Amino acid sequence: MVVNQVERIFQVGGNALHVLKGIQMEVKQKQLVMLKGRSGSGKTTLLNCLGGLDTPSKGEILFRDKPFSKMNDDQRTLVRRKDMGFIFQAFALMPLLSAYENVELSLRMAGKPRSEWKSRVVECLELVGLGKRMHHRPFEMSGGEQQRVAIAKAIAHRPLLLLADEPTAELDTGMSAQIMAVFQNIIATEHVSICMTTHDPTILEVADHVYEMVDGKFI
Ligand SMILES: Nc1ncnc2c1ncn2[C@@H]1O[C@H](COP(=O)(O)OP(=O)(O)OP(=O)(O)O)[C@@H](O)[C@H]1O
Ligand SMILES: [Mg+2]
Repeated sequence: MVVNQVERIFQVGGNALHVLKGIQMEVKQKQLVMLKGRSGSGKTTLLNCLGGLDTPSKGEILFRDKPFSKMNDDQRTLVRRKDMGFIFQAFALMPLLSAYENVELSLRMAGKPRSEWKSRVVECLELVGLGKRMHHRPFEMSGGEQQRVAIAKAIAHRPLLLLADEPTAELDTGMSAQIMAVFQNIIATEHVSICMTTHDPTILEVADHVYEMVDGKFI
């Protein structure tokens, strides 16, 4: 993914709020890229643009050499479902579905063959340490367990790009380390790149590249 001079300007009460001010970045194949920066600096705004949940006001985003940010909604939705995975607060779990069914749903949505569902769901839930919680529904799990289901769900369809907004924020140190090990493992074994935000200095250490956002720009 290549980001060229991306700006995002919000109109709030008649005023223009310039949140992203010319972002230039690249996420290469099999890279683990992290975004850090103070609260309000624009990290989530940028991730939303990378994932096509929002579009830049200026500049462009290329994904697999195609102008992702200039596609229409239908085209973008197809790319999102097939080739991207999300770990965002807003993409929470389906409350009435078990962990197993939640992960299965992402395979169904991505159009993966039904014959592959079972083994892949089990594999992903085991990867995040939830082999014994597969049939629990979200309200029967702790916050950290729910977050791990969200991670299993985000990687199940083997996305090329995984976008994660503070994926370890609610987890303790041990579990955060385990999730980062899962991320490194999927980068090593599958054709995926990961772009995530974090505040945790110990997590930043495992990044291939860290971009620091200050007031809508990288320093
Ligand atoms: N839809 C929107 N309309 C108007 N302003 C917005 C919108 N989304 C974000 N902003 C503003 O853009 C700025 C950056 O927000 P953003 O959520 O990207 O920050 P962040 O770096 O993710 O912060 P945090 O670390 O707290 O999650 C904030 O000042 C926020 O109020
Ligand atoms: Mg944020």
